[in-house]
Amino acid sequence: MMSQPILTVAHVDLGYGSLKVVFDFSLQVAEGELVGLVGGNGSGKSTVLRAISGMIRPWSGQILFDGKEVSGAKPHQMAMRGLAHVPMGRQLFPNMSVHENLMLGAYLPEARARREESLAQVHELFPDLAKYARSPAGELSGGQQQMVAIARALMLRPKMLIMDEPSLGLSPILVKEVMASIRRVSQTGLPILLVEQNVKQVLAVSDRAYVLENGKQVLDGPSRDLEGDPMIKKAYLGL
Ligand SMILES: Nc1ncnc2c1ncn2[C@@H]1O[C@H](COP(=O)(O)OP(=O)(O)OP(=O)(O)O)[C@@H](O)[C@H]1O
Ligand SMILES: [Mg+2]
Repeated sequence: MMSQPILTVAHVDLGYGSLKVVFDFSLQVAEGELVGLVGGNGSGKSTVLRAISGMIRPWSGQILFDGKEVSGAKPHQMAMRGLAHVPMGRQLFPNMSVHENLMLGAYLPEARARREESLAQVHELFPDLAKYARSPAGELSGGQQQMVAIARALMLRPKMLIMDEPSLGLSPILVKEVMASIRRVSQTGLPILLVEQNVKQVLAVSDRAYVLENGKQVLDGPSRDLEGDPMIKKAYLGL
């Protein structure tokens, strides 16, 4: 069906305290794929990302990354295995320069050793970031700041990128720019899992997508098929 998956989430139940919020959820991302995980407010998208990046441990089920079982691994262990997480709200250091923010992304020894090479690659993908290298990150537009956050994650030279709501708080034009930049990153061959409430934009750029509602998977498939699905049109695209 597809090439070797870099990420497999198999039948996980997830929750907080005694409250289960994600039920029997499964997802795969193959090498080179851009996969969307979409759904409304509180549907459990960030919870799934937190389980993948090691911030919470699955109650049951399995997570495999790069061929190894990682259920219960810690966030720094996931980073060392090659998973980079672009957090919600970007979390840049606004008073530090764009260049300094990017360099912070290369915090593991292997990435640090190759950071000049990584920086050149990142500047090729995001020419604006070279232009504003000396500017405080906080002075950039929201869209450019999101690109700094993505570029900082790339400085880790990851095997896969996961992103939580990169379009949050951006104007429609900037959302389009950020989505186009995510597509460019994907075209370098890096597998990406993109979590978003903005269903329309995600379906427009992704290869496949999964739809979560109230912690349950309700649909998945090629994004082009989902764009034409009557339930998606009615519930998410306002058609
Ligand atoms: N730290 C937490 N402790 C307790 N409950 C939580 C916690 N984080 C999330 N929840 C609950 O888990 C459910 C799923 O939340 P989650 O943040 O995963 O949804 P989401 O799809 O990312 O929503 P949004 O689009 O608003 O970001 C919600 O009911 C939420 O209230
Ligand atoms: Mg969320």
